[in-house]
Amino acid sequence: MTFVVTENCIKCKYTDCVEVCPVDCFHEGPNFLVIDPDECIDCTLCEPECPAHAIFSEDDLPADQTHFLALNAELTKTWPVISAKKDAPPDAADWDGKPDKLPYLER
Ligand code: SF4
Ligand code: F3S
Repeated sequence: MTFVVTENCIKCKYTDCVEVCPVDCFHEGPNFLVIDPDECIDCTLCEPECPAHAIFSEDDLPADQTHFLALNAELTKTWPVISAKKDAPPDAADWDGKPDKLPYLER
């Protein structure tokens, strides 16, 4: 099993999640983070830390977010590891909760 970063992280990217991960399995893109499914040890620590409620256990993914499992696995292969919190985008709060953000994902 793994935990998965889902759509509401796009353009919010608060990065609180990376501070608690004991195995540094978060990888960073321009406006989204993903979890390496081969590194995640299912410790559950990151899920409650995300202010955008964007992290779910693989088994608890909402039905409209299941495609993010494959997307995390794909993007983790090319994006670098992030292990320290950084400032969120200045307009992160404006994007929190906006629907249909996938077209805004930058690779
Ligand atoms: Fe890291 Fe634990 Fe979250 Fe997996 S569940 S990404 S190991 S903090
Ligand atoms: Fe994204 Fe939430 Fe982490 S918005 S960067 S999954 S704290």
